[in-house]
Amino acid sequence: MCGIVGAVGATECTPFLLSGLRTLEYRGYDSAGLALLDASGALVRARAKGRVSELERRVAEQGVAGRVGIAHTRWATHGVPAERNAHPHVSRGLAVVHNGIIENYAELKQQLQALGYAFTSDTDTETIAHLVQACLAGGNAFADAPAADLFAAVRCAVAHLEGAYALAVVREEEPGCSEEPCLIVAREGSPLMLGVGEQGHYAASDASALLSVTRRMIYLENGDVGRLTREAIELIDGQGQPVAREVVTSSLSADAVELGDYRHYMQKEIFEQPQALGNTLEMLGGAGRLQPGIFGADAEAIFAEVDAVLILACGTSSYAGMTARYWIEQLANLPCSVEIASEYRYRHSVANPRQLVVVISQSGETADTLAALHHAKAMGHTRTLAICNVPESAIVRETALRFITRAGPEIGVASTKAFTTQLAALFLLTLLLAKANGRLSNESANDGVDDSPEQAFLTELRHLPVAVEKLLALEPEIEAWAQRFAHKQHALFLGRGHHYPIALEGTLKLKEISYIHAEAYPAGELKHGPLALVDAEMPVVVIAPNDELLEKLKANMQEVSARGGQLYVFADGCCGFEQGEGVNLIRLPEHYGLLSPVLHVVALQLLAYHVALVKGTDVDKPRNLAKSVTVE
Ligand code: AGP
Repeated sequence: MCGIVGAVGATECTPFLLSGLRTLEYRGYDSAGLALLDASGALVRARAKGRVSELERRVAEQGVAGRVGIAHTRWATHGVPAERNAHPHVSRGLAVVHNGIIENYAELKQQLQALGYAFTSDTDTETIAHLVQACLAGGNAFADAPAADLFAAVRCAVAHLEGAYALAVVREEEPGCSEEPCLIVAREGSPLMLGVGEQGHYAASDASALLSVTRRMIYLENGDVGRLTREAIELIDGQGQPVAREVVTSSLSADAVELGDYRHYMQKEIFEQPQALGNTLEMLGGAGRLQPGIFGADAEAIFAEVDAVLILACGTSSYAGMTARYWIEQLANLPCSVEIASEYRYRHSVANPRQLVVVISQSGETADTLAALHHAKAMGHTRTLAICNVPESAIVRETALRFITRAGPEIGVASTKAFTTQLAALFLLTLLLAKANGRLSNESANDGVDDSPEQAFLTELRHLPVAVEKLLALEPEIEAWAQRFAHKQHALFLGRGHHYPIALEGTLKLKEISYIHAEAYPAGELKHGPLALVDAEMPVVVIAPNDELLEKLKANMQEVSARGGQLYVFADGCCGFEQGEGVNLIRLPEHYGLLSPVLHVVALQLLAYHVALVKGTDVDKPRNLAKSVTVE
């Protein structure tokens, strides 16, 4: 979604601001803009609808330059994508960029209009610009006396805001910064971090945008407001007290966000899965026993107390949760429910305080997942666990336990390696809950060979990266199917048991990047309605692992064939399938037991990717979507 970059330094900062915006492009946006204080201290602004490249063209045309500036990529919430709605928004010599949503903006706007402030956009953000200006002016409902400087004015303004924001503000001829120009930042709900550099100080909504200038970062807490000059960073917390926040060194490498030889980030991320899984499972080392400590210091005690599991997540992360539900109930014998975070947060549910609440999120920023976690905590849940790919994210900081997947930065909007590493983490969680519930034998065989179920599952997990690597070799066969899908309007995906969520994930991938309407069904549901859709034009993708439901699934496939439907079957070896009229078959290298979903989903990722390639869509930045959904 929206992205922020800001800088105050010794050198011309336009190149940094523009390269920062390019780094944030993956988050999804529809317009971009920047504002700088030029050599004379005057505010200059350039904005453009569309890509950052269009903004770059305008910046070059206008000759915009300066040592202090803010920049933004906007993903429309209030007002259509248009240059007039692009950030920064200005009010008499000050400029603001904003991520998040101001819930009381309509009321504030009315008050500000009554004070004579004229609005030129449909955004909630412009309200903030005028509100800061009103605080600087004083003598109104927002401030009795004029604020001493921009820092004070922003602190005054945020006290009137309801909702979520990450803000960066600059002002020409800032009185409090007469010696040195400054950049003011504030955070509530939306992520914002500061960069501590050699040549100055920086701000961004995503650490990756800072890597070109520094690895030393400060993560702002909710309520923080800061003043950045070239020499110093001054922070005030939500209680109005000066505060020092820890400077951490980011472990992100700049290479991790480079495309390298790949055509798209999604392709790169699909092929990175063996490595991502290997990194995520690294903490197992060669140990024959799982240690609960991998989920946090209190994990052993908490796992021993829980009598049920509640999983909260959105999108792909929720499908990881749905897959885990099958594992947790089967292996740990604990009741497990999975709820879409945006529903749970508003539903009147009945809390069970002994439940383990698991929030799953690649980004750790998803507004609905974070709100669902807050809702669960407000309902008395204390046993909370985050499974997340971003260690510094809000979600991770708010749970009692945490497991950080090590997928590395995921840039493609369509989630791939984050999903498979979430599955690996959830399988580890399942094993630990099973152990705590006395469901996994810890006894070694008398002959000294450890063949306990725990050991066997750990061996399978450790082999997973190799198994995924073998699966990736099927790409040419899958690519050959893509041509036949690209001209279809609709597709059905069928799975059973713990492959049903994988069918759901397969349809989400296809919808997101190829814009083909796809629906997933547990195959047994077919004759309860969706069979009516099947004809020779309907491709039906079947996930057919060699498990105990295979014969049932074959019967469901007969129902499709009998109606002329075209079957595209991903089968494990030795499933007794034959390629033939109306039946297209790709054989996966091996059946992988309970972990089979991790392999089958990779095949579906490749199918979606190649269909999108044939269709020529924008694979990494599909229309209307954002990488992290940081607003409701
Ligand atoms: C996945 O391909 C999607 N882009 C989307 O469904 C995503 O999984 C969802 O928005 C949740 O994101 P999170 O994992 O960062 O919370």
